[in-house]
Amino acid sequence: MPTATNLPAILGGEQAVTLDQKIANAWPIITEQDEQAVLDVLRSGNLSLHPIVGELEEDYKKLTGRQFALTHNNGTSAILAGLHAIGIQPFDEVIVPSATWWSSVMPVLHCGGVPVFAELESDCLGLDPEDVESKITDKTKAIVIVHLFGVPSKIDELVAIANKHNLKILEDASHAHGATYKGNPIGSFGDVSIFSMQGNKLCPSGEGGILLCDDQDTFESAIRLGHYERLLNLESQNKYFAATGFGFKFRMAPMAAALAHSQLKKMPERNALRNKNCAYLSRKLETLGIETFLSTNDTNRVYFEFLVRYNENTSGLPITDLAKALQAEGALVSAPRYPLLHQQPVFTQNVWSKIARLPATKENPIHVYDPADLPKTILGNGTLLKLPSFPSADEALLDQYFLAFEKVLEHTNDLPRTDC
Ligand SMILES: Cc1ncc(COP(=O)(O)O)c(C=O)c1O
Repeated sequence: MPTATNLPAILGGEQAVTLDQKIANAWPIITEQDEQAVLDVLRSGNLSLHPIVGELEEDYKKLTGRQFALTHNNGTSAILAGLHAIGIQPFDEVIVPSATWWSSVMPVLHCGGVPVFAELESDCLGLDPEDVESKITDKTKAIVIVHLFGVPSKIDELVAIANKHNLKILEDASHAHGATYKGNPIGSFGDVSIFSMQGNKLCPSGEGGILLCDDQDTFESAIRLGHYERLLNLESQNKYFAATGFGFKFRMAPMAAALAHSQLKKMPERNALRNKNCAYLSRKLETLGIETFLSTNDTNRVYFEFLVRYNENTSGLPITDLAKALQAEGALVSAPRYPLLHQQPVFTQNVWSKIARLPATKENPIHVYDPADLPKTILGNGTLLKLPSFPSADEALLDQYFLAFEKVLEHTNDLPRTDC
């Protein structure tokens, strides 16, 4: 029976989380240096083609060890440019995850490609290498790897499969600025790698993205698609396209680049504090049977988002009721679901083939998407609980979060069930 001191708040006990959380969880953190950096560009009057954009590209080349960097107005356009640059053509199949933000997948359609969904594995929420290999056909051209929430995917296995089958890799590192795999930076593994710098990301610019690669032709293909203004500077025949480009204008706004350039200076120390905080709480939550996706010997993850896995079958309390009980404790948690992409109408109702303008032919029949596919992904997607990523928290707040979990999980049998 619950005692007065450990009675969960949802049953009338005292709240576990009472400290102020506004500052501890505030993101992005904007300093006077950030303001000055943006003001400098604003006051320069050079609002469209300011050299700060090139400086940001140099920063990212250093961060990832890549030869070429091309900023974009957002991560989505960087992905489209990346797919174009690695040569995705009509009817090419691209293996993608389903539990990700839509931008990792939807640009495939605009190259005329066919997204083929593969399962997530459960250790690090990346593509399951075995399932990826089973989905390869003679039309497969590329794999999109996403390091979900900042956890590096199984890169060695996926790269080995790509090499074996002569496939390209697009690495979507939007959640993983500063993470490493076997000592190498995330963002260094794809034929093209991209980062988003949207306002919630670990290096926020407001809106922004960047494409990285090591191959000159790939780089120039991306330039051709969305950066007509750079074509004249090229030595190759691509300069002949300068008067038209290839139809898009993807360049990054210099004021946004100035913010990202300034934020990137602080990113290592800010990532380190998030990591310290999330790892501290994770180690405690692991003692309660919660899986937390901690860094391993091979990986140094980052915490774009802090999601943990809760097994409702073991505890008997449905995850939505766990979330409600924790919220009653004052904890800012939720049980989010990625809207799984392979279940969305754009795929299940064949709208995708219209976007991609792919009429069915004998050689290329319409790809059919079944919402019941990917049972592991569907199941796994329902086990994740989201916590704040604690960018500026201290141990006192984290201890209160742990207490909230401890209280609630000690009393799972006593807690209200929504479905009962
Ligand atoms: C995994 C992933 N890829 C790509 C993107 C697209 O980035 P953006 O919002 O900058 O277009 C996001 C967006 O937030 C994302 O979460």
